[in-house]
Amino acid sequence: MTAQIIDGKKVASKILEDVEKRVKTIKETPGLAIVLVGDNPASQIYVGFKEKRSKAIGFYCERYNLDKNTSQDDVLKLVNELNQNNKIHGMIVQLPLPEHIDENLIIDSILPHKDADGFTPVNLGNLVNDNNMLLPATARACLGLIKSTGMEIKGKNAVIVGRSNIVGKPTALMLLQENATSTICHSKTKKLKEHTKNADILVVATGKANLITKDMVKKGAVVIDVGINKVNGKVVGDVDYENVKEVAGFITPVPGGVGPMTIAMLLDNTLKAMELFKRV
Ligand SMILES: NC(=O)c1ccc[n+]([C@@H]2O[C@H](COP(=O)([O-])OP(=O)(O)OC[C@H]3O[C@@H](n4cnc5c(N)ncnc54)[C@H](OP(=O)(O)O)[C@@H]3O)[C@@H](O)[C@H]2O)c1
Repeated sequence: MTAQIIDGKKVASKILEDVEKRVKTIKETPGLAIVLVGDNPASQIYVGFKEKRSKAIGFYCERYNLDKNTSQDDVLKLVNELNQNNKIHGMIVQLPLPEHIDENLIIDSILPHKDADGFTPVNLGNLVNDNNMLLPATARACLGLIKSTGMEIKGKNAVIVGRSNIVGKPTALMLLQENATSTICHSKTKKLKEHTKNADILVVATGKANLITKDMVKKGAVVIDVGINKVNGKVVGDVDYENVKEVAGFITPVPGGVGPMTIAMLLDNTLKAMELFKRV
């Protein structure tokens, strides 16, 4: 058996087409602000994609490149200005931030209805409450890719490897909302294989290259690889793609899987944020 490849770029382009169409029907222009602190090369690439895509579909985009030594107070000041800026409907502060800055404090200072990444405690709390407002873009990307396979999620065993607030936990909650049985694994999980082997849906978000090998995957499973790792100059995921695709039913490649979908969901969130803004 060879898995069907889930083409993230193709699924994302449908979402972006839809967002672009919706933008053309409204008078106002959705505004996205992107804040980058420091010179992390991977972050610079991700931010570049987000800026380019947002402009390509007709958004107004402001990008702030702050020096790596920018003080926490100055980042907070910028976020507060963007909170008050009526041209900006959604904003993201690219993570990770330099060590001297408290990420939670900065994220918490973003107004929940402008939180395009869906990372604020209010938006995560709403997700726990099944009251979806702005959901984390990568978790939305994972769910969208799973749905694109046509598989019925209800009643399936979903195993999520990784428990971060921005990927693992929200993805598990969103799959739970879809009536899957969600299990979250992490670095202290014993006998990881016993869990992954039981997964009809396997989402892997660890940042550990080739953590998931062929023997750990159930035949026919939907495998979503969120990881981004650089090995010998090549970008790879957390799944041993070449071998796992022999047993999986569907699999996302890295690059070209979750990455492009995350950007599409971020822009969809920004448009949604604009709609929310009209109500506050
Ligand atoms: N494609 C995209 O758009 C996108 C978006 C976001 C993130 N990413 C990528 O996704 C990956 C994860 O990101 P993140 O922010 O969620 O990372 P993170 O905050 O570092 O969390 C990693 C998680 O993986 C778990 N883990 C680490 N080693 C493990 C092991 N050997 N077995 C089982 N679990 C293990 C950790 O467990 P503990 O909690 O026990 O430490 C932790 O919960 C990274 O490669 C990141 O670059 C991609």
